[in-house]
Amino acid sequence: MKNSSVYDCHVLALNKIHNLAGNITIVEGEQNIPFNIRRIYYLYDIPGGESRGGHAHKELYQLIVAASGSYEVLLDDGTNKKIVRLNRPNFGLLVVPGIWRELFEFSSGAICMVLASHRYDEADYIREYESFKNLKK
Ligand code: TYD
Repeated sequence: MKNSSVYDCHVLALNKIHNLAGNITIVEGEQNIPFNIRRIYYLYDIPGGESRGGHAHKELYQLIVAASGSYEVLLDDGTNKKIVRLNRPNFGLLVVPGIWRELFEFSSGAICMVLASHRYDEADYIREYESFKNLKK
């Protein structure tokens, strides 16, 4: 995680099977994303003006999808930052370990779906920005 960079984090175009009755997007671990999926969680009913995230992970890979609505994700590797806007369910932001992230500017009704490579483990979180910066040195 020490050497990971915001430039290792990409928006992946997922497949979209389109028909008149609606669309379907399929995500398969180690097929169209580079990790096995062990957990899915989603954020919803996010009040206007609220922000989420504000931490990094040591080992966890995530694919972050705007399943509905839109929001912005700030990525920070301790040196470089970038902001990605997610607003389509057939695109996902791959976030590698060792990246500080903040999510904000949620539209009303936004659903932030996260596919994660590991089960929940509080020990995998870095929640203090100063600790994060020190680990990246
Ligand atoms: P957190 O990851 O800090 O939220 P966010 O980054 O979306 O702002 O998690 C919020 C709370 O939910 C925290 O108390 C931990 C708990 N939690 C779980 O118990 N299991 C999980 O899989 C996740 C993602 C969070």
